[in-house]
Amino acid sequence: DKGNHRHFMAKEIAEQPEVVGHTLACFIDMAAGRIRLPDGADVDFSKLDRLAISACGTAYYAGLVARYWFEKFARLPVDIDIASEFRYREPPLSSGGLALVISQSGETADTLATLRHCRAQGMRIGAVVNVPTSTIAREADVVFPTVAGVEVGVASTKAFTCQLSVLAALAVKAGRDRGVLSEDDEAKLVSALVELPRLMAEALRLEPEIERLATTFAKAQDVLYLGRGTSFPIALEGALKLKEISYIHAEGYAAGELKHGPIALVDENVPVVVLAPYDPLFEKTASNMQEVAARGGKIVLVTDGEGPEHAGSAFAVLTLPKAYAFVSPMLYAIPVQLLAYHTAVFMGTDVDQPRNLAKSVTVE
Ligand code: M6R
Repeated sequence: DKGNHRHFMAKEIAEQPEVVGHTLACFIDMAAGRIRLPDGADVDFSKLDRLAISACGTAYYAGLVARYWFEKFARLPVDIDIASEFRYREPPLSSGGLALVISQSGETADTLATLRHCRAQGMRIGAVVNVPTSTIAREADVVFPTVAGVEVGVASTKAFTCQLSVLAALAVKAGRDRGVLSEDDEAKLVSALVELPRLMAEALRLEPEIERLATTFAKAQDVLYLGRGTSFPIALEGALKLKEISYIHAEGYAAGELKHGPIALVDENVPVVVLAPYDPLFEKTASNMQEVAARGGKIVLVTDGEGPEHAGSAFAVLTLPKAYAFVSPMLYAIPVQLLAYHTAVFMGTDVDQPRNLAKSVTVE
């Protein structure tokens, strides 16, 4: 049931504050302001020397964000692979170590193959999964549920922000287990998570502005997305979303990588979406943005706080509510989802069932 939405994707984007709230409630003791893993899902991260993450598509991008968190908050080295490549790299795996797979459907063939490969090497398997009855949920040792509800749109939206929320909670737990975060640090990070659903609801109010921008994007042949730090995987996600439902060619790049090649693509016909929260990384990304501006690129700056004051000659600025840098990936996911959605609607593509794609990919 689409409710009063035109597409499942629109409904699923709009549901995010609610389902992220439900998901976080499974991982946070709200009264104590502490992380509390669901019953039966306990992991002691102090015993690990590495974490191996694998997933496909959007779920892989959630894992890429999580790497920043686990390494920063828990000083836990993370290896992350696209599930379809994991085995071919023949990574040395530590028996007794933890492999984390991430999947909305819990049926993705490559992700399942990774799980079985890691299990055969004696690893314990944790799964961040949305469908509790799925094969991946059944075969994992520990299930970390995303409570996104059924996701119908082929383009993953609410499952992604729920995956990020679970991974954020796990990274804080890991930080405590490993003695890197104090009780105080935990309380601050947890309060940022508790605030998140409200901030996501605020972010959704950018929709009318984004809908207007979509008319420009619909005319583009190529679109670039740039981000630094945890905004880099969100740039990759923004590009994937646009490609899969509007069929416009899009690429996400680390902002600093631009001048190593892709800037050659930039001219006045190329919209460049710059994801730059006003945090300690802002200034560097803003200078990459100036490089784009100097070549006539059409910049859409997505930022918060004092960011808009540094927008220069940007074509458009989307201002998100100010938030802890920690939770910005979940917030910055929203405008890129909405931009892809409205561009596709404007172009008249089949948003919920884009060509050549299936909701769950059960062949390798
Ligand atoms: O069900 P999964 O999370 O394992 O699916 C992984 C990818 O197939 C999926 O995220 C795909 O990339 C989406 N169409 C992205 O919107």
